[in-house]
Amino acid sequence: MPRPIQLRLSPAALTHNLAVVRHRLQTVSTQLQRPSPYIWAVIKANAYGHGIDLGVQAFAQADGLAMLDFNEAIRCRELGWTKPILLLEGFFSADDLDLVARYDLSIVVHEVAQLQALQQFSPARPISTYLKINTGMHRLGFAGAAVEEAWHALRALQQQRVVRFLGTMTHFARADSSTAQTLAQIERFQQLNPAPVAPFSVCNSAATLNTSLQSHLPATEQWVRPGICLYGASPFDEEAAADYGLRPAQTLSAGIISVQRVQPGEGVGYGHTFEAERALRVGVVACGYADGYPRHAPSGTPVTVDGQRTRLVGRVSMDMLTVDITDLPAAGVGSQVVLWGAGGPSVDEVAQSAGTIGYELLTAVTARVPRVVDSSTTTHQEDNDEK
Ligand SMILES: Cc1ncc(COP(=O)(O)O)c(C=O)c1O
Repeated sequence: MPRPIQLRLSPAALTHNLAVVRHRLQTVSTQLQRPSPYIWAVIKANAYGHGIDLGVQAFAQADGLAMLDFNEAIRCRELGWTKPILLLEGFFSADDLDLVARYDLSIVVHEVAQLQALQQFSPARPISTYLKINTGMHRLGFAGAAVEEAWHALRALQQQRVVRFLGTMTHFARADSSTAQTLAQIERFQQLNPAPVAPFSVCNSAATLNTSLQSHLPATEQWVRPGICLYGASPFDEEAAADYGLRPAQTLSAGIISVQRVQPGEGVGYGHTFEAERALRVGVVACGYADGYPRHAPSGTPVTVDGQRTRLVGRVSMDMLTVDITDLPAAGVGSQVVLWGAGGPSVDEVAQSAGTIGYELLTAVTARVPRVVDSSTTTHQEDNDEK
């Protein structure tokens, strides 16, 4: 019998979450009497741990896919994706440009070296390009006067038919925590944008969900770039994904393989970081940090056992972790523990407890955990809604 652990993936939840985002954008766009933005579903990092193949299938209604990795982009084309594919960091070397043109990939240009490589290149077909503007994130993009220069260089390349479509782009540093800071970045974007009527792309999940930002953005062609919310996790500290009607697409669960009785004052696990405050029954769960569960999750981190909420106790070890089942008398060997996802705590709750973010947990489940794709067309949440 295989070790009782699995990662259940729900294409129905991914599709649902994309529809939620689309609906929010359409509602605000109708109010503002402008076209609704196009959506790039961000599927970088193996679709945030859900698998590229699943992402391509579940996000079929997206207007495009965005990622960083060439192998992932090529896989999308091999799977039959014909709509735009955006490489969020553009290309890494001039040698990549043949692939970019061959697979009709759109690129982000954020560095002079990329411009120089394009100037030396004669592609089989022109390449759709976004100029990345640094409006305060200070990670990628041109700033100040360099924006105008880069734009002119790209316009010249467009005339030479190296570049096809040309747009502009930026990335927000604090869309998850500060509308005021994000508005300041939007203002900076408007000031620096050399082509105010060109298509543009600025919104990640947090900025996309915060629809109050839309009235501050140009009414021209806009492409949003949501990632985390499509996977049913929240980009915000204070608001849960469920508050937006988003559903978890990834559920990590494992079985209890042993039960221990612990007397008051006795410790549990490595380092005895947890000491029983009363007599406890402790379930030993077949999941550890080598599966991707965060080792830093402290005692008290929520889990569910057979649908009942309880807590992690003691330090997470490589292959096992321990949970308190004292108040769950029916729980024992074979009980199902949801570490995060449908029927358990949200990935954001676990992440917050462990001092990290849902993004890290979703992308960190290791290869040894068997993946099971949910074939149901409804999500667990929808099942619950119907009851
Ligand atoms: C340039 C860019 N756009 C969009 C995203 C999607 O962000 P999120 O997952 O927060 O929606 C990311 C993610 O880091 C990014 O780097």
